[in-house]
Order: sequence, then structure tokens, then C-alpha cells
Amino acid sequence: MTFETPLTRQLNIDLPIIGGAMYPCSNPELVAAVSEAGGIGVLQPISLTYVHRYDYRAGIRFIRSLTSKPIGMNALIEQSSKTYHARMTQWIDIALEEGVRFFVTSLGNPRWVVERVEQVGGVVYHDVTERKWAMKGLDAGVHGLIAVNSEAGGHAGPRDPRRLFEELADIGLPLVCAGGVSDAATFRNALAIGYAGVQMGTRLIATTECTAHDDYKKAIVDAAASDIVLTERLTGVPVAVIRNEYVSRIGTKAGPIARWMLRGRKTKHWMRTIYALTSLRKLKQSLKTGSGRDDYWQAGRSVAAIDAVLPVSEVIRRMTAD
Ligand SMILES: Cc1cc2nc3c(=O)[nH]c(=O)nc-3n(C[C@H](O)[C@H](O)[C@H](O)COP(=O)(O)O)c2cc1C
Repeated sequence: MTFETPLTRQLNIDLPIIGGAMYPCSNPELVAAVSEAGGIGVLQPISLTYVHRYDYRAGIRFIRSLTSKPIGMNALIEQSSKTYHARMTQWIDIALEEGVRFFVTSLGNPRWVVERVEQVGGVVYHDVTERKWAMKGLDAGVHGLIAVNSEAGGHAGPRDPRRLFEELADIGLPLVCAGGVSDAATFRNALAIGYAGVQMGTRLIATTECTAHDDYKKAIVDAAASDIVLTERLTGVPVAVIRNEYVSRIGTKAGPIARWMLRGRKTKHWMRTIYALTSLRKLKQSLKTGSGRDDYWQAGRSVAAIDAVLPVSEVIRRMTAD
């Protein structure tokens, strides 16, 4: 059976499956394994350098030593500071120099990324949760959209997969379903709705190639959809996590000072910066320590169909088998 879609044609890959970028879970072996299995793994620069301790260029070269197939890069392009923008520009340029030709942009206006990437014939997909962001992406010239729905791990969107597809279909760009896909049934359902492919996150954490702590993987295998809750305490906007001992203890609402700061026009930016710095550290620590007593474990509702830790090749074989 062939799974040829506009996504596989644009990226020159066998299967319409993107291994979504994940801070802090995207270790090089995981990214490479998704590409090697016929999909495309997307590297996450902060995860690669800060969590997994690679020099950025050396990290990309390491991934490319594990697979000769195409890989992608996630560019979070929020205009938070000049220093961050300069760093992101450098990361994109190095990725291009190292032969990366697929970019997934999140937040911000992706026009400058499209301009750079198109010079070498690359492809840019933009993360969107609703039509207004999709129109901005279209205007910026992106080649496709990652439609992040309400089932997704990480920052989920407000719409279910079908509703989001209907809202975006007439825009005319290939749409990728991000959220809720972890087995053959959910994969086929996304393609039947009309999506050109899927982007998976949660399923790929419970794999042998992911270097997350075994307790985190076990929590994903054991969790039901009802164990996934949205917490504001990580970044100030809702993030899907497993309700473990820690989350049960500290709750999911931002504290009163944080809430007050998030309401003010100026203080909002400070609070977001504080959140960004503390949550990066906390998530990095949670990846390795296990136990769940002091850990945030991000995961989406697709945990429902995950019942074993498997090699990535087996996850993808089962999803795409007849
Ligand atoms: C632990 C975790 C971390 C994530 N980090 C990022 C990230 O850094 N950048 C990004 O664009 N998406 C991120 N995502 C979203 C995924 O790339 C993907 O779109 C999402 O997980 C799809 O939903 P699923 O978890 O139901 O498969 C993350 C998701 C998870 C579960």
C-alpha cells in the first residue's frame, strides 16, 4: 500500500508521518529513527544543545550519521529578544548548511524563514491552532500547515481534528494533523478526514530510542486520556501533562502573582520570560529524574492507545500495516 500525499511528495519521504519536535524529548537517536523508518524526524535546537548537550552543528552531523534520509528542524520564532532572534537565525543557517531542507515554524511571522529556506529549494510548514494564524502563514508564503488540535501533547489548540480541518481546508495548503495520533486507527482516521499527513509527539516518547526516564515512558503507557490535564503553571498558557503525584500536589492554575503579572501589558513579557527560563530547567530535570514526585511529564490524550514501549520502526510499522 502506498501513502503518497502532497506532504510525501514535497519532502521526498515514503510515509506521511512527521516525528514532531519535542522539548526536552527530541534526542538525536529519536529524530534519526523516525526518518530511518520512512517518516521525517524534526530536531529541536534547544533540546539538542541545552538538554542533550551537543554542539549544534555537531548534533546535526550526529543525526545525519545515523540516517541518510531527510530530517527537519523546528524554529520557534517568537520575537522575544534580539539575542534570541540572532541565535535562531544562526541555527537555521547552520541547518541549511548541513543539508536540512524542512522547517517547522512556531509562533511569530515565518516570512523571513521562508525567504531563507526557499533560496535552496527547502520547505516550510507553520504550526497553527486556528484560521487566523493559518492566514498569516499563507500570507508569509509557507508551503504547508501543521494543524495543532485539542488532543495534542505540548501546547494544544482549541479545536478537534475534524473541526480544525474544516476550518482550514479551503486555504489550499497541505494540512498535517498534529494531536491524538498514536496507532493505525488514529492515523487512518486523520488521512480519511483529508489530512496530507500526521505529526506525532507523545507516541514517540514511549520508544526505545527516546532517552527519557523509564518512569516517564511507563507513565505514558499506563495513562488513560482522563489522566491528561492542562496546566498553566509551566508557561502561563495551557500545556498538556500527565496528572502525576507532582501535578496533583501543586495544581494546574497559575499562582496569584503570576496571574496578576500576566494581565499587565508590560509585566506580561517579564512573566513569560520568567516562565520560559524556569520551565526549560524544570522540564530538563523531569526528563531524567523519574519518580513523578517533582516532575512535569508532557503528554497528550493519545496516551489512550499506547500500551507498550517499542522501537520507532515497530511503532511506524504497526501504524502503516494493512
Ligand atoms: C513532550 C512534548 C514536547 C513538545 N515540544 C514541542 C516543541 O518544542 N516545539 C513544537 O513545535 N512542538 C512541540 N510539541 C508538539 C509536538 O511536536 C506535536 O505536535 C504533538 O505532540 C502532537 O500531538 P501528540 O502528542 O498527540 O502526538 C511537543 C509535544 C510533546 C508531547
